[in-house]
Amino acid sequence: MNKSLKAVILAAGKGTRMKSEKPKVLHEIFNKPLAGWVLSACEEIGSFENIVIVGHKGEDVEKFVKKQHPESVCVYQKEQLGTAHAVSMAKDTLGDFDGNVLILCGDTPLITAKSLFDFVEYHNKNNSDITVMSSVFENPFGYGRIVRNKNDAVAEIVEQKDCSDIQKDIKEVNAGIYCLSWQKIKGFFDNLKNDNVQNEYYLTDIIKWGNEAGLKVLAYILKDCSETLGINSRAQLADAFKTMNERHLNELMENGVTIVSPANTQISPETEIDADTVIFPNTFINGKNKIGKNCKIGPFAHLRGDCTIGDYVKIGNFVELKKSFVKSHTNISHLSYVGDAEVGSNVNIGAGTITANYNSITKEKKQTIINDGASIGSNTVLVAPVELGKKAFIAAGSVITKDVGANSLGLTRSSQREIKNYVK
Ligand code: UD1
Ligand code: CA
Repeated sequence: MNKSLKAVILAAGKGTRMKSEKPKVLHEIFNKPLAGWVLSACEEIGSFENIVIVGHKGEDVEKFVKKQHPESVCVYQKEQLGTAHAVSMAKDTLGDFDGNVLILCGDTPLITAKSLFDFVEYHNKNNSDITVMSSVFENPFGYGRIVRNKNDAVAEIVEQKDCSDIQKDIKEVNAGIYCLSWQKIKGFFDNLKNDNVQNEYYLTDIIKWGNEAGLKVLAYILKDCSETLGINSRAQLADAFKTMNERHLNELMENGVTIVSPANTQISPETEIDADTVIFPNTFINGKNKIGKNCKIGPFAHLRGDCTIGDYVKIGNFVELKKSFVKSHTNISHLSYVGDAEVGSNVNIGAGTITANYNSITKEKKQTIINDGASIGSNTVLVAPVELGKKAFIAAGSVITKDVGANSLGLTRSSQREIKNYVK
């Protein structure tokens, strides 16, 4: 943990353009809210005690933060009077904190821990007091412009609506991420002004304020500007999903995983896959998973998260897997649902096998344990909780409600009858 770093994440806005009942920052990419991605990136660089500024449906955001990021806290901003006003809500919580405060927005899920790390390093190495992250955009419309003086130093940030015609041509924009030496700059929040076109308290005013106060003010240009894409609409949400997915697929391929058709494969960045595994088309892998080497996954496989898969495992078409542990050399080749299960090595799960793990009356989920070498015939229902011993053999079409011992045959189907000449 980095004791000298905390983040303040702005997430009070309504996100009108999402046309949603849900606060914007709780919309998800790969099962994880936008704000969750930002918080995780902060945690990855050692910042755990973060402050999320919430407003619109703040209780919902707070519920999520308490559950998934318990070291962080939410602070309410009742009226959204501007970005500086939002940060000022964190003043009491930060108090005498003597370190760097990162400011981020809760709706920019593509920012990476690597970029945040480099950004904070830059701030520290240059003994900066205020560092703003900037990007160069061919079309800078809508963003605050970074205005530099003759010496190329950052003089101020001017918002789109306050720009002169000349300033409108500036392509370097404010990415909305700041690193602030808290004790040096906290005075800025004591005397906020809103004399601008939008009558908002702008956080961007801190640049000019810092310069006037004789502080060191720098801009750090982020090369990959896709990282600071803010989500305002469903279309941008889809764009961000695509970018996050492509980034991870490229990483996996660089590490030796074959992705047969990247255009129709989705794999959550929280899924690790070892080399020489092949992912066939139309596979969707959500959440946190670990997949070993030399596996074959798909086509049309669906992993829903919390799965650990060994080496040389086959997960074939129309197989859904959730919260399961599958050891090496096991085949689940077709049309199966395996959830809340522990599956040993060298197991063969026949087509159409289902773990009945959920009781919809009690709402309980139960475990299925399948030991090494077991063989399960097609169309079997394993009603959890149930355990199959080593090399247990289950006859096709069985409904298994009781444990089956090692080397034993489990069979529940009724025997076949033949009525001679029935058709005649
Ligand atoms: C802001 C910057 C702009 C920058 C851009 C980058 C200011 C004044 N402008 O503009 O220079 O180029 O981000 O994306 O800072 N929020 C609150 N409470 C408020 C106001 C905003 O929590 O009172 C949150 C919003 O929910 C949002 C974020 O702060 O997540 C940014 O606010 P927004 O109004 O969208 O700022 P921009 O106009 O995009
Ligand atoms: Ca705005």
